[in-house]
Amino acid sequence: MAHGAENLFYNACFPRSNGYDPRWVAEHQMGPNVLWLTEWLAEGLKLEPGMRLLDMGCGRAMSSIFLAREFGCFVFATDLWISAAENWRRVHEANLEDRVFPIHAEAHALPFAADFFDVIVSLDSYQYYGTDDLYLSYISRFLRPGGQIGIVVAGLTAELVDSPPEYLLKPQANGKAFWEADCYSFHSAAWWRRQWERSGCVHVEVADTLPDGWRHWVQHEQAIEAMGTGVFPSYAESLLEDAGRTIAFPRVIGRKREAEVSGVLGEGSHPHVWEPEFMAVCDKLLSARTLKKDG
Ligand SMILES: C[S@@+](CC[C@H](N)C(=O)[O-])C[C@H]1O[C@@H](n2cnc3c(N)ncnc32)[C@H](O)[C@@H]1O
Repeated sequence: MAHGAENLFYNACFPRSNGYDPRWVAEHQMGPNVLWLTEWLAEGLKLEPGMRLLDMGCGRAMSSIFLAREFGCFVFATDLWISAAENWRRVHEANLEDRVFPIHAEAHALPFAADFFDVIVSLDSYQYYGTDDLYLSYISRFLRPGGQIGIVVAGLTAELVDSPPEYLLKPQANGKAFWEADCYSFHSAAWWRRQWERSGCVHVEVADTLPDGWRHWVQHEQAIEAMGTGVFPSYAESLLEDAGRTIAFPRVIGRKREAEVSGVLGEGSHPHVWEPEFMAVCDKLLSARTLKKDG
């Protein structure tokens, strides 16, 4: 799988990614180059062969295939928009049936055991659900104490004081404006650090921004445009105008604390408020209180 100058995705910053077939990357991409984002995220993680890894919002599972192939992890490739059957075909083509397990699930209703994963990753996906104050305490339930959770998201260099710059709101020559209402889920690395640290669920080890992230995103946009595999009109024009002043790729990595902080029900392990078992615990507490009062 060696690819030379004809590879429009060739990028000296991401040597592992350069080994992947550019046509395969172009055909399965769902946003900024996920192999590059995964390679950068992996630099901050301690990945070892045999680790159980959740790839949350894996899309077409390219990051899952990359992590299984490059690091020998067992990857649970979990996504909403892409079916498990579709991803299984890709896993089969990559000969990784014993390492990558596609799961179709919604991010708030995950079918995994508590403390199951050694590592949780999410690439260009966590911003769709993870800005909710309750989310980290939910997803980190599936991570073993001491395990790492790491994300790379489309985001900002710094929080917006007001609205985004005018040039991100106006249509590009191709008619598409970069900034849509959903982009308000974009945040800075500092925002994510604070969001995770104050939850008490994890100790934040890394909160930074991909150097030259906008240049990489432009290269990706131009490559898929040239290869004719773009799903959406290119964002290159807006990204070039912004030149990294606003749009960035924050990376956040946290390690789950040994003992989670107390939740609404007090110390110890208890169901998350999004889990059906939560009500049963409330009922139990209430009946214990009633018994005590009556007795
Ligand atoms: C922009 S795509 C990125 C996909 C992939 N990580 C990549 O970079 O190629 C965002 C992904 O997040 C997933 N996603 C968004 N909301 C989700 C939710 N509530 N539950 C599970 N997955 C979700 C979508 O299914 C989609 O595949």
